[in-house]
Amino acid sequence: MRTGFGHFVAILLAALAFIAPALVTAAVPDVTGTWVARINSPLGEMEFVFRLRSDANGGLGGSVNSLFGDAPILEGRINGNDIEFSIDMDLFGNIQRRAIKGRIVGDELQIESAGLMPTPPPGMVMPGGPPAAPGAGAGPPPFAKLLPGTLTARRGTPTPSYRAGPVDYKALPKVELPALKALPANKLARTPPMGWNSWNKFRTGIDDKTVRGIADALVESGMRDAGYIYVNIDDGWQGTRDGNGVLQPNPNFPDMKALADYVHSKGLKLGIYSSPGPRTCGGFEGSYGHEEIDARTWAGWGIDYLKYDWCSAGRVWKDQDMRAVYQRMGEAIRATGRPMVYSLCQYGRASVQSWGPLVGGNLWRTTFDIFDNWPSMTGNVNAQEALAASAAPGHWNDPDMLEIGNGGMTAAEYRTHFSLWAIAAAPLIAGNDVRALDADTRDILLNKEVIAVNQDRLGKQGRRVAQQGEIDIWLRKLSGGAHALAVVNRGNVEAEVATKWADLGLPANLSARDLWLHRDLGRLADGYQGRVAAHGVVLLRLK
Ligand code: GLA
Repeated sequence: MRTGFGHFVAILLAALAFIAPALVTAAVPDVTGTWVARINSPLGEMEFVFRLRSDANGGLGGSVNSLFGDAPILEGRINGNDIEFSIDMDLFGNIQRRAIKGRIVGDELQIESAGLMPTPPPGMVMPGGPPAAPGAGAGPPPFAKLLPGTLTARRGTPTPSYRAGPVDYKALPKVELPALKALPANKLARTPPMGWNSWNKFRTGIDDKTVRGIADALVESGMRDAGYIYVNIDDGWQGTRDGNGVLQPNPNFPDMKALADYVHSKGLKLGIYSSPGPRTCGGFEGSYGHEEIDARTWAGWGIDYLKYDWCSAGRVWKDQDMRAVYQRMGEAIRATGRPMVYSLCQYGRASVQSWGPLVGGNLWRTTFDIFDNWPSMTGNVNAQEALAASAAPGHWNDPDMLEIGNGGMTAAEYRTHFSLWAIAAAPLIAGNDVRALDADTRDILLNKEVIAVNQDRLGKQGRRVAQQGEIDIWLRKLSGGAHALAVVNRGNVEAEVATKWADLGLPANLSARDLWLHRDLGRLADGYQGRVAAHGVVLLRLK
């Protein structure tokens, strides 16, 4: 028999049963939609895009576009206002699972940026410089300081809207890879390619007007006549494919053929960028499954150079497949009949130096991306050491594009940068705004004596032959029995150096010319003695 109190409890329970589902629903906010966090960091303005799909049971799916491309959301959960998920972050072909936490606060999605920070693989210098030496005190790595601890995203539309959407990797059609063979050399790049590329300065903010302006400036500054002839558009030019699968440029490039004609009319050549994956590193449409049609499109526009960047291909293929993947595009370019320099960009993975020439490659990146700081620049060029024997006319090791003129290093450091790229027979692809050259940048990029070292027709890459404390000595064999010698001071104070020809395997009584002072030093009986600025260089031509 029910008491009054029993009735009360029964009514309460019935009421609870009625409102509980509503309570549960209220506890799982519907976060479905696109959330954008815009930040301004020392790395530049950037956007993080969270495309979320939530369900009433607290499940969370979708994708995240972060510093390292687009990644599907894995293991996503919403608990009250707390959000948790993982992504497989693709860091230059190293796939790392990162756990990410966040919360909904009012109309904001707040994401802890720690989860979006990859652990740099050995040898990689992240923007902001390398981590502090062990024992130098705890604290976040310099890279982490470049992002705020919490990213605040709001519902919105990402810019530019030309980025392609996320990819359903499980549903991708399969692309057949060719049987390995050796493609004949295309006879291009008998000396390291020289030119300009949009990435280091402009990132994906590149357009037709800027490229034309750069072409004009290459001519007016004398850079074209000094050898910088390739004008290379990096990531960010792509739009969508039309009904026939032909990739169209985005509205920032209204007419690629007209742009190529313009660049050609200036005595220059035009380069373009894509990825063997479905998406480029910047999240734009890649060439996956469209290799032949894309190569034909570029040939039709009059493209002379292709940089082909691994990016999302690492989500489809393994490193063992790389050679076949790059061969597939090498064959597609060949089939167009138009000569194109083929620049492989897969960060030196899978011993690319051993098969790069066989897929038609004229240059291949050997490292992670360069950043405009001393540790990154020197780290990249030091990594060329072991690969020196693989460079030769027609195919070159590529420690990445130049940062000279971008403002992150001193003039002395930029002279060292240029000297080492010359000694290492590295491609000289300027990465600054050449419409606004300051005096130092002009002197460096237009130093014809240093360029002559880089472009020496013997095509032998130099090596670091000795180290004395903080002094590195690099030597490159040049045609006609000459040598280029670079003495680099890694230290933070000016240093006195004394080198002995005999220790470097060189004969006595060499006549020397200082390629930065543009001055003959006369005959040096048994070595060079002098002072080298902090992070500076002395570059000599010896005969
Ligand atoms: C990678 C490459 C860079 C640049 C960007 C474009 O990071 O290594 O040189 O091409 O992609 O997104």
